[in-house]
Amino acid sequence: MSDQPVNTLLQPFTLRGLTLKNRMVISPMCQHAAIDGQVQDWHLVHYGKFILGGAALVWTESTAIASDSRVGIADLGIWSDEHIDGLRKLADFAHSNGALMGVQLAHAGRKAFSAPLWEGGHALSPDEITRSEISWRRVGPSAIAASSEWSTPDALTVAEMAEIRQQFVDAARRADAAGMDAIELHYGHGYLVASFLSPHANHRQDEYGGTRENRMRYAVEIATATRAVWPSNKPLFVRLSCIDGVEGGWNLDDSVILARELKAAGIDVIDCSSGGLSEEVKRSNVPRGIGFQVPFSAEIRNSAEIVTQAVGLIVSPEHANEVIATGQADLIAVGRAALRNPYWPAEAYRKLSDSDGFEAWPERHSAWLDKRQPMLRRFVGDEAN
Ligand SMILES: Cc1cc2nc3c(=O)[nH]c(=O)nc-3n(C[C@H](O)[C@H](O)[C@H](O)COP(=O)(O)O)c2cc1C
Repeated sequence: MSDQPVNTLLQPFTLRGLTLKNRMVISPMCQHAAIDGQVQDWHLVHYGKFILGGAALVWTESTAIASDSRVGIADLGIWSDEHIDGLRKLADFAHSNGALMGVQLAHAGRKAFSAPLWEGGHALSPDEITRSEISWRRVGPSAIAASSEWSTPDALTVAEMAEIRQQFVDAARRADAAGMDAIELHYGHGYLVASFLSPHANHRQDEYGGTRENRMRYAVEIATATRAVWPSNKPLFVRLSCIDGVEGGWNLDDSVILARELKAAGIDVIDCSSGGLSEEVKRSNVPRGIGFQVPFSAEIRNSAEIVTQAVGLIVSPEHANEVIATGQADLIAVGRAALRNPYWPAEAYRKLSDSDGFEAWPERHSAWLDKRQPMLRRFVGDEAN
């Protein structure tokens, strides 16, 4: 038996100047509900549910740093100062209800502009995007389409890459002005930075292509530039696709090496996702199962000695707790489990702490739930859990 104390899902966790009240985080989830990138009532209610639901940290959906390279037309945006006030409402509501709020910064690159899942989730055709009357562009390290579904992106010049790097920096400044507690740079799912990492998408001949070191260069540059403006007391996360899941693609060893470089550049947490490089490889090559990405998190945490967030089909509090207790991750992000039940973290607290009370709920609710409990128990016995 080791003398090391065992961590639990319910324990607080400190990152730089920020203390998360537990290890439960709400994963970024695109809503396709913004107008010109602006926060709408939908977002206030949607994120508000998670803020009240007991998670320590709530991520916004992928929030576009550039108007012309969004994941979907109706993504949240942070490409202008006009977006700050809306985002501040989310951060303020989180802070007045005991949660932290982070923003995921994204540039969708060659996979910019797809339809919401309920409309098929397909790559929008140039005609469909043009009809929305916004300027748009698909760009990547090389003129290689993500799959036959996607139009061929423009290969970025080094000067254009510097502009986009600056867009990340400007977005970070705005996130701070909006009172956000954390930033996550989206380096996963085949979007711009992920496409630089993968030898399948990146055929460049310059210092940004070829060797792994060259393919990582842009990712590290963006991280360094963002860290330089992001307050030193606030944490910076990177979401990585830890594997492309395709023969000869970006793999877990690459991710460990990148994680070390990112740590040296001031990144605090690697959020361990996978796949998404192209539509063809997405389905077949990263086998799904309960907690299927947890082994990526464990390997990166232990080999790169960096804090990790595990995500992906983590559905039971007991499993989430075991992932933390066995040192496979420091934080657990849930997405769809929280769509189903925004109080997933509060329920997890109740279950794992064997608490009979509802202290993980907002007090406006918990006082009533506590009061009801003995009566409920009298009527339905142990079913009144
Ligand atoms: C509705 C929805 C939207 C998503 N949008 C994003 C996104 O904006 N950025 C991102 O990195 N991942 C996104 N994801 C992926 C989730 O963050 C998460 O990694 C994935 O759903 C696996 O976790 P889960 O099994 O707990 O849902 C999205 C997932 C869902 C269900």
